Amino acid sequence: MKKIVITGVAGLLGSRMAEWILANHPEYSIVGIDDLSGGYLDQVPKGVNFHQIDISTGDISELFKDAQIVYHFAAYAAEGLSPFIRKFNYNCNLVATANVVNACIQHSVGRLVFTSSMAVYGVGKPPFKESDAPAPIDPYGVAKYACEMDIQIAGEQHGLDWCIIRPHNVYGRNQNIWDRYRNVLGIWMYQNINGLPFTIFGDGSQQRAFSCIDDCLLPLWKAGTDARASKQIINIGSWKYYTIKEASEVLKKVIGSGQTKHEEARHEVKDALPSHELSVSLLDYEDTTSLQAGLTDMWNWAQQQPKRAQQSWKTYELEKGIYSFWKNK
Ligand SMILES: NC(=O)c1ccc[n+]([C@@H]2O[C@H](COP(=O)([O-])OP(=O)(O)OC[C@H]3O[C@@H](n4cnc5c(N)ncnc54)[C@H](O)[C@@H]3O)[C@@H](O)[C@H]2O)c1
Repeated sequence: MKKIVITGVAGLLGSRMAEWILANHPEYSIVGIDDLSGGYLDQVPKGVNFHQIDISTGDISELFKDAQIVYHFAAYAAEGLSPFIRKFNYNCNLVATANVVNACIQHSVGRLVFTSSMAVYGVGKPPFKESDAPAPIDPYGVAKYACEMDIQIAGEQHGLDWCIIRPHNVYGRNQNIWDRYRNVLGIWMYQNINGLPFTIFGDGSQQRAFSCIDDCLLPLWKAGTDARASKQIINIGSWKYYTIKEASEVLKKVIGSGQTKHEEARHEVKDALPSHELSVSLLDYEDTTSLQAGLTDMWNWAQQQPKRAQQSWKTYELEKGIYSFWKNK
């Protein structure tokens, strides 16, 4: 049987990709790795050979033996928080990736698919093209960009085949809605379930390309298997753009209720929007799920989730300059 390794298998992309592969490509067995720091065991699909390991410190190499494809999704993607947890960010996102790259080289893995981020573009001019010079504005974006460069070096020097995906605001069933530092749509769902208003940083005029996970799964599969995707860097993101305020109105419509509370503005990119030509020509990406339809599916799921406490950092590495809404009282 052919073998795929998925890191971050308990999270949104990992669990949904594993589920999709098991349903569509039963000729593959799946080894899944996750430390459950940001994902949940009950989201790991049955049929995955699961290992709870922190990939920034753990010994993972043997698990990569005979793997044709590695999807490296594990990360802590709290971009806005990353300046206040710098060391954690680089360990979890950069050092961990070095561990994965080592294991891929060691076992001559067929292709490594790495999910980078739109954060590498930073203050670039939207819509962001893959050929634009990266200009990240925070440690999370820097870590992702460093990983991209490291993977390309492994390609040149050790012959590792790779595909780098830059996802844009992916959302859907199995997204972590209990982390107050990331995933705005999930944060709003948590807030509504708990009788709180939706919080918006600044005036809400920031634009984002919210991308339903259902539209990303086939392209991610092609990122791992299609010859066209070999050694390519490709955005994956919706071609419909929403301001944060507009997105909150769509979710209010889906839920049937909701208030808004504006908080102080954050240090963040104003308009993070992808070009989509390469995702269409190389990965056959199609933007078929409207934000309203995708949010309806996610909201139905969110309401059935266990009551979990919101995840919060008790202490940050750096308190200086932290926003009032994240200050520990
Ligand atoms: N969802 C998005 O909008 C988006 C956008 C851009 C980039 N990405 C990237 O895509 C990837 C997947 O994102 P996601 O939305 O599924 O995130 P997620 O948080 O839902 O999943 C990540 C998983 O990785 C696990 N993990 C974190 N650190 C780990 C470690 N050190 N060892 C082992 N497991 C660890 C977490 O427990 C979690 O289950 C990430 O690399 C993220 O940076 C996602």
